[in-house]
Amino acid sequence: MRLIPMALCMGVALGALAGCQGQTSEDPPILLERNMYDQERYNPESYSPFFSDHRTMRAPVEGTVARDRYEDDPEIATGLLPDRSGYVLTIPQAYIQRSGGMEKVLTRGKERFGIYCAPCHGATGDGKGMVVCKRDKVTDPCESRGFSPLPTYQDPRILTMPDGQLYATITHGVRTMPAYGPQVPIADRWAIVGYVRALQLSQMAQATPQPEPKK
Ligand code: HEC
Repeated sequence: MRLIPMALCMGVALGALAGCQGQTSEDPPILLERNMYDQERYNPESYSPFFSDHRTMRAPVEGTVARDRYEDDPEIATGLLPDRSGYVLTIPQAYIQRSGGMEKVLTRGKERFGIYCAPCHGATGDGKGMVVCKRDKVTDPCESRGFSPLPTYQDPRILTMPDGQLYATITHGVRTMPAYGPQVPIADRWAIVGYVRALQLSQMAQATPQPEPKK
């Protein structure tokens, strides 16, 4: 009956020896509590037996729109009249109201214009931004950098252009001007339209000859 304790002792000794591998191992360490060591998740660009195309990265459901690109109001979304027969003439009231009034719109528009438009169109909209003109600090002439010429915003065609068309120009670009829709969210595009109008108005006042003060 001394066999049982002996067998137990040998078992323990063997177990202890087996635990000592005597060399480094590539295998993950044995953990009784695995915690977050292994996670039930997919790595990017990896394989999944679950989906029929075996891609772990899923394409968005057809018709999905990014949250900041979603707009209910078709006039605000496109700058077109509801029947799409032409451009809206003025910035949609619903947009101005939603944005908290024209003052807020213009403040935002000025800032966004400075980032997205002024580099080409110039801070005043004269079409002589730093992308277009190389300037000497002293004499300040516009030396062309070879960029295609830009119209000034005082061009009668742009002055009389419907606001919706200005918006569409930003969204889709026009001829040699690239589209800014992919970079500038809808609300900011309308804010820029507002600021372009403000720029035009401010310069019209300067351009109109003032009557001579009476002596
Ligand atoms: C990379 C330079 C560049 C930037 C940035 C740029 N534009 Fe332009 N834009 C142009 C060029 C070039 C034209 C002239 C296109 C033509 O007639 O071939 C133009 C033309 C225009 C016109 C006249 C369109 C017409 O029908 O003749 C408007 C309005 C305009 N841009 C507004 C904007 C606004 C607003 C922004 C800022 C969101 C902007 N642009 C940013 C290069 C630029």
